[in-house]
Amino acid sequence: MEHSYESVLDAVGHTPLIRLTRVTEGISAPVYLKAEFLNPGGSVKDRAARHMVAAAERDGTLRPGGVIVEGTSGNTGIGLAIVAAQRGYRAIVVVPDKTSTDKLAVLRAYGAEVVVTPGGLPREHPEHVSQLARRIAEQTPGGWFANQYDNPANPQAHVDTTGPEIWAQTGGRVTHYVAGIGTGGTVSGAGAHLKGVSDGRVRVIGADPEHSTYGGGDGSPYYVESIGHYLHPDTAEDVWPQSYHTGVLDAVERIGDREAITVTRALARQEGLLVGASAGAAVAAALRVARGLGPDDLVVVLAPDSGRNYLSKYFDDDWLLRNGFLDGDRTRPVLGDLLAGAPAPAVVPATASTAQAREEFDRTGAEVALVVLGRTSAAPLRAAGDVVGALRRDSLKGDSLDGDSIEPLIAPALPAAGIGEPVDAALARIEGDWFAVLADGRVRAVLPRPA
Ligand SMILES: Cc1ncc(COP(=O)(O)O)c(C=O)c1O
Repeated sequence: MEHSYESVLDAVGHTPLIRLTRVTEGISAPVYLKAEFLNPGGSVKDRAARHMVAAAERDGTLRPGGVIVEGTSGNTGIGLAIVAAQRGYRAIVVVPDKTSTDKLAVLRAYGAEVVVTPGGLPREHPEHVSQLARRIAEQTPGGWFANQYDNPANPQAHVDTTGPEIWAQTGGRVTHYVAGIGTGGTVSGAGAHLKGVSDGRVRVIGADPEHSTYGGGDGSPYYVESIGHYLHPDTAEDVWPQSYHTGVLDAVERIGDREAITVTRALARQEGLLVGASAGAAVAAALRVARGLGPDDLVVVLAPDSGRNYLSKYFDDDWLLRNGFLDGDRTRPVLGDLLAGAPAPAVVPATASTAQAREEFDRTGAEVALVVLGRTSAAPLRAAGDVVGALRRDSLKGDSLDGDSIEPLIAPALPAAGIGEPVDAALARIEGDWFAVLADGRVRAVLPRPA
């Protein structure tokens, strides 16, 4: 029986390649998208989940009646929940608190138990998603920590399935393989296979958010989920996952949030392909690469999951406007019109002394400073996610000593609005006498509420 499977696990993979025909205008090299959102759990992660569990069963670390534990905000948890359901295991998934309620509902629908922990913690923190998952696995009888970041069965899933599929589907004509780098399993596993079968001819390109440390960014927060490497400023050492084999890659393309989101939306509206922004970033990278290629080349770009997971983000105009990713309709004044002559915002690390804060106020002439997590190699504009509070110049007055920490003086972070938001609408929404204006999710200016 063709396309009939003995269980849902056998239905993982075998995803089609779909040629892009409109976003590729002006490009002569064919570009095909590997539609991983068609996996049973809705993402490429079903492959890694199935492989990791199979390997653990083989080596005896996961035994009948055992408990699968993983720390993840998303798709790997769903893949593991499916495998657990089908194979008769308990699954416990530790998620950061910002995870959407829809995702939690999906995990629970498959019968997984969900443990919520604060997000944005340094990697060494005992409550960090991975640390907590590891501890739960250790303390639960029969517990097994899947650990996609360092589990060799994760990249191996792509050596064994994704890579061979791409080679067979293109009849060995693939010349370039492009995929986002999260744990690195997808790009380095399939990449290693394609390099091997082609005698090194296939070029492997990773797509990485501009601020991620993989491609040389400072690790500050970005908006494209599930790829890249965020670095908490308190993290002592920037450790990369063992699932990421950097030697397999020929190049890393750094993609800004705005470009990734723009391509994501174009894929839905021009190609009829509703994919997530990690796919948008990968396609953006693929288009860059393809522009320099000819008709004898063939690019395959991998789309990890569906845009349905992000309807309230990348496909929601209000969300885009509020975070500074849309320029507004220009029929009425927008916040960007107020920025002429606005100085770069004053920035004070949360650990600063009052003397250091005073210096920054004197240097910038600002009345209100952003209080940020200490990050030494920061990009010129601060990521909204790095801003933890506000400090007013006038709060430094009085008898405070210059050696003192600013800590007791830190006020809650300012309300924020996007650069393309109409002025009247933004002011109706935000409260307070000062506010931050975001462009591409970064603070472009701090402004007083206009009279
Ligand atoms: C939506 C999405 N994109 C990209 C990735 C990155 O894949 P990998 O971890 O194999 O690098 C993931 C992984 O969780 C994902 O869920």
